[in-house]
Amino acid sequence: MPVIVIASPKGGSGKSTVSVILGSTLANQGIPVTMLDCDPNKSLTIWSGKSTIPDNITVLSGISETEIIKSIKVNDADGAIVIVDLEGVASRLMSRAISQADLVITPMRATSLDAEIGATALNLIAEEEEALGRDIRHSVVFTMTKALRSRQHSGINESLKEQGVDVIEPSLMERAAFSAIFAFGGNLYSMAPQGNMPTAIENAEGFSEAVLARLSDG
Ligand SMILES: Nc1ncnc2c1ncn2[C@@H]1O[C@H](COP(=O)(O)OP(=O)(O)OP(=O)(O)O)[C@@H](O)[C@H]1O
Ligand SMILES: [Mg+2]
Repeated sequence: MPVIVIASPKGGSGKSTVSVILGSTLANQGIPVTMLDCDPNKSLTIWSGKSTIPDNITVLSGISETEIIKSIKVNDADGAIVIVDLEGVASRLMSRAISQADLVITPMRATSLDAEIGATALNLIAEEEEALGRDIRHSVVFTMTKALRSRQHSGINESLKEQGVDVIEPSLMERAAFSAIFAFGGNLYSMAPQGNMPTAIENAEGFSEAVLARLSDG
């Protein structure tokens, strides 16, 4: 089954949020999901401890640089979609995870600084592709976006597209439910309503579908 690695050396770019929203939404559709929490800050582990998580989600924590490749291979063979959440820093752990990915997603806030630091994630993927002698599918997703798209957002979007970088639509909007899920645990369907839930759920499902489409076309 596919291995999705969420990677950006930019701290706070939305990696753990993308991991939890994607994983819990896919699991709600009946897809078994294994999440590997490779961040010493353990965002996913904290989320999974807040309330009972569905049977088809497994969260494994504290995975180190020496264990990551074996851990991905073992869990990949189990038939679940594997989602790897990484620390916001470029590291050997990050390179190793990327080397095992069917899809790398780089979350990015639509600001110039985030785009600049996010670009280093794309360079790291390119280096890994060179080392492995194969292409690694990768995409950017804008996070914490507003309903009204800023000029900066449009500009960065255009520039990524010109460079041939795949940008996942829809972006993950800034939503109270997407941050509150870490306090409540569970998924968007089970948690106490926060803000406009139907819109948040529609956004999460649209994003997850766009990710699945990338896995199935190739
Ligand atoms: N789409 C969103 N809507 C609302 N809040 C968000 C969204 N995405 C992220 N946040 C908030 O922004 C902060 C950083 O997000 P998150 O922890 O997902 O980033 P990260 O890249 O995993 O950070 P780190 O590099 O520290 O692991 C958190 O407080 C999170 O709740
Ligand atoms: Mg994180």
